[in-house]
Amino acid sequence: MKITVVGTGYVGLVTGTCFAEIGHEVLCVDIDERKINMLRKLQMPIYEPGLEDLVKKNVAAKRLNFSTSVKEGTEFAEVIFIAVGTPPGARGEANLSYVEQVGRKVAEYMTSYRLLVEKSTVPANTGGELKRAVTKYLRADIDFDVASNPEFLREGSAIEDAFSPDRIVVGVESERASKLLREIYDPVIKKSGCAFLEMSVTSAELTKHASNSFLAMKISYINAVSRICELAGADVEEVARGMGLDKRIGPRFLNAGIGFGGSCFPKDVDAFVHLADRLGYNFELLKEVQHINKTQRELLMKKIQHELWVVQDKTVAIFGLAFKPETDDIREAPSLYVVSQLLESKAKLKLWDPVAESNFKEQYPQLEYHPDLLDCAKGADLLLILTEWPQVKALDLIKLRDVMACPVIIDGRNVFDPEKMRKLGFTYHSIGRK
Ligand code: UGA
Repeated sequence: MKITVVGTGYVGLVTGTCFAEIGHEVLCVDIDERKINMLRKLQMPIYEPGLEDLVKKNVAAKRLNFSTSVKEGTEFAEVIFIAVGTPPGARGEANLSYVEQVGRKVAEYMTSYRLLVEKSTVPANTGGELKRAVTKYLRADIDFDVASNPEFLREGSAIEDAFSPDRIVVGVESERASKLLREIYDPVIKKSGCAFLEMSVTSAELTKHASNSFLAMKISYINAVSRICELAGADVEEVARGMGLDKRIGPRFLNAGIGFGGSCFPKDVDAFVHLADRLGYNFELLKEVQHINKTQRELLMKKIQHELWVVQDKTVAIFGLAFKPETDDIREAPSLYVVSQLLESKAKLKLWDPVAESNFKEQYPQLEYHPDLLDCAKGADLLLILTEWPQVKALDLIKLRDVMACPVIIDGRNVFDPEKMRKLGFTYHSIGRK
């Protein structure tokens, strides 16, 4: 089937490429000429494991093409996925202007039935608003549908998630829309055996908010437990293991750390709180989730302050700038907060990240970046671990200890075993562990 995907960010590019891989003919559209030119030269505007190979393969097979024209996208396919950005507005509400712009343009160019599918995470009732906007800008009496198909891909394992999802959720209002979406996902459903859930557009929109917010809540919950563990002298990893074996709780998303970041959880929780407020419900539970997440980073700064006593002129090495491993994404990454605080206190910083360095450099071009972990740690008074990259886990700890000015580590991701670190001669602080 022919499919247009508007927006070539993390969601759009992965979605479009995976649709091509399962046999559809896909046109990915973005108004950003720089991105489209890169993609036409088979260069990736983002880092996502496995993406480059799949793009190359599907472009060569002529199933994947790129364009800067929404007009071309509208003429190309009956089904148009909208995967443009929905950045947070000033008060936490999602900014829907890009979604609306796509809707208006499609309305302007369409000459026969089109199905517009919201793929970007949007607040409940956006489908209704989009429908209203398209109706307003349509030049003739043409039939169309709006559907919601929230994505549940995780950055860093998005390709794998796309081919073996836990479920596919579609919010539809007509038999025609339902049939089209079912046909698109048929190869994935057949291969993975995943559930295909049909519901109303608003329920689908809410499913996405409720899922992401629930996962964020799980993280804040274990982070709150980690504080109690520190106060009571318990070990949060032992507690999490004990909890996670209960099938009703499950072991995943119970890793205590410096809090969740990325472009999804912080923004989605904000947007859900904002939506609830607008609808007249004070979602205090989620407000506490936000509060715990914010104070988790502040607590890390307190540990740094306590350990260094005087922060000024101390050399602090930082391992990991991305909000999580296997991505170059630094949006809402704890590293941004920690670096700004340390610079304010006049620390000297040495940074390492295998893929997020160039994104970080755009904001902090003046800082010292090291491609090698040991070079980065050399002469440091303190080492901070902010992302649990596998390279950090695989490090030669004796060499690490010997290159540092003081072998002190504050580990925001609980990468190492505290007992082993102490035996090796490190002063080692982590999250919620003795
Ligand atoms: C998240 C969801 O997991 C996806 O299902 C969803 O599609 C996506 O948001 C989205 O809305 O687009 P993502 O933000 O890529 O995916 O990353 P996650 O793996 O969920 O991690 C989010 C944050 O939580 C990271 O900062 C991670 O370090 C943190 N985290 C995760 C913890 O601190 N502890 C954990 O146990 C798990």
